[in-house]
Amino acid sequence: MWGVKMSAEVIMVASGKGGTGKSTVAVHVGARLAARGHRVLLVELDSGLRSVDYIAGVSGKTVYDIGDILSGRCEPAKAIVESGLYPGLFVVCAPYEGGDIRPEALASFIGSARMVFSHIILDTAAGMGVPFAAARAVADRALLVVTPDPVALRDGRIVCDALNTGGCGEVRLVINKVPRTLAGTGLQDLDECIDTVGARLIGVVPESAPLAAAGARSAPLDGADRAAQALDAVAARLCGEEIPLTVR
Ligand SMILES: Nc1ncnc2c1ncn2[C@@H]1O[C@H](COP(=O)(O)OP(=O)(O)OP(=O)(O)O)[C@@H](O)[C@H]1O
Ligand SMILES: [Mg+2]
Repeated sequence: MWGVKMSAEVIMVASGKGGTGKSTVAVHVGARLAARGHRVLLVELDSGLRSVDYIAGVSGKTVYDIGDILSGRCEPAKAIVESGLYPGLFVVCAPYEGGDIRPEALASFIGSARMVFSHIILDTAAGMGVPFAAARAVADRALLVVTPDPVALRDGRIVCDALNTGGCGEVRLVINKVPRTLAGTGLQDLDECIDTVGARLIGVVPESAPLAAAGARSAPLDGADRAAQALDAVAARLCGEEIPLTVR
């Protein structure tokens, strides 16, 4: 795995409110980048609340985690496993418990991983705790994941401001779990989401039962699913492809 010289772009995935879909977006954007031939490392920083192992299909395949890498208990290559569902996507899981993320140790690991991968995705915990701060210190850009509801947007705005003032490069907005109609959400339209958060849009991902089911069953997501296609478009835009964005 080691040996090829690259210089990865580091993309952190953040949110204000919990459960907006950070881990789901992190895995599927990573999977779609990998499907385009990129060499992708996904690092889960949400200690104690693992979900990436399930969504990426590495549950039961991991012995070591990011806590082991950062504390020097194992060589990074031992904790990095390839997704069983999405070839070319390599994953390091968070510990089941404990394993605080030390920012200097994370920066050092990411510095060496940059030479081996083309993209490094950091899945953080909701809010602005230790994983958020450690990721922000090394990220070149951020995907801020919100759902179309007033609380997620208000909290998203706070996190967006913290990303900007903390010197993270570009912040791009993913509006996730978008229902067919916004009736009852308290929102007029998706422009309101963009205006409230104050970040440039990179994708609108519809609410999708197959996407949720794939994660829950640790099964691959059908590429024809509407959410899968929206996440593929996010990956393409991250690569600089100009794919028109439509906000109904
Ligand atoms: N577009 C979508 N459509 C339907 N369900 C979704 C979608 N995106 C995510 N989900 C579901 O929402 C739930 C939360 O997703 P996920 O774990 O990715 O969120 P998170 O932001 O990482 O949560 P946490 O803050 O706890 O880390 C999961 O059950 C997931 O399958
Ligand atoms: Mg998560």
